[in-house]
Amino acid sequence: MNAPAASRSPLPILIDTDPGIDDTMALLLALASPELDVRGVSVSYGNTVVENAYRNTVEIMRRARKRITLGVGARRPLKRPLVVASETHGESGLGYAEVPPAGVILDFVKSLDRLLADQSQPVTLVTLGPVTSLALALRRDAELVRAKVPRHIAMIGNVAARGNTTRYAEFNAWCDPEALDEVLRAGLPTEMVGLDVTRQMVLVPNELTRLAHSGAPQARWLHDALRFYLEFHKREEGLDGCIVNDVLPIAALVKPNALGFEEQRLVVDLEDGERRGRTRVDPGGTPVKVATQVDLAPVRSLLSERVFRWAVRKAATPIEREEASV
Ligand code: RIB
Ligand code: CA
Repeated sequence: MNAPAASRSPLPILIDTDPGIDDTMALLLALASPELDVRGVSVSYGNTVVENAYRNTVEIMRRARKRITLGVGARRPLKRPLVVASETHGESGLGYAEVPPAGVILDFVKSLDRLLADQSQPVTLVTLGPVTSLALALRRDAELVRAKVPRHIAMIGNVAARGNTTRYAEFNAWCDPEALDEVLRAGLPTEMVGLDVTRQMVLVPNELTRLAHSGAPQARWLHDALRFYLEFHKREEGLDGCIVNDVLPIAALVKPNALGFEEQRLVVDLEDGERRGRTRVDPGGTPVKVATQVDLAPVRSLLSERVFRWAVRKAATPIEREEASV
């Protein structure tokens, strides 16, 4: 019988991410979840250039008052030209949220394989952006990755759902299909949390009202990020809300019953054009647990209790007031 969640030791995880507005929500949820032990965060290009993603990650850690080991994974795709999603996440990667200038030197920071090598025990690897960092780690030391990553859960791809970058492809897969192909061929135990379920993870405006009406600095900052994302979804998809894709893999680690999976054999299309990065079922493909069902109720509760409640609380101490006000 499984030990009750409260008594189980926290699950050690490493997150590779491209913050990114929905990545920000995912990181804040992970950092606020006692069920998870965030052993490190590896930053990747994707929603924005890696220098901005790194600056954004530092800003998220600062506001969450967490000291997490940071690394830099991938700066660009394995072979494709670098394309970022400024129209979706803003030039900074965090919409209208105020952020300090990004540094331009990201040398002497640990890569994902070095973060993995530092782990005394195996970790669940959560990838929330293109999987170039993981592909590079596999190229550098596949044996290390296999020893330290018994489980990989990824926000990537789509099977039955329409793509969000082309009509066939999801952004993280489209950014670097060669990387996803190498990751699939490496045979890591992978759970794919793709658009088939994440398209349903829509934050509706009234869930953000709490942030908008709060005078708390973190609430204003998070609302400024989400406001940009809301405008994008209204303009581009006619949606009255915004899709926070990356929250689902994190929520699923905290509430495993939130997602239902089916094992499917997947391949990724490497051609150019509309099918670039399409993840599709093929008998010769790699077995992947594909998320096909989602129960949003527990996910919304987690966001409300652990992210929005954090954001609206007034800073408790003078130092917190000082730090929160910048
Ligand atoms: O397609 C959605 C994914 O691409 C999310 O991870 C989003 O943050 C972007 O990286
Ligand atoms: Ca992302």
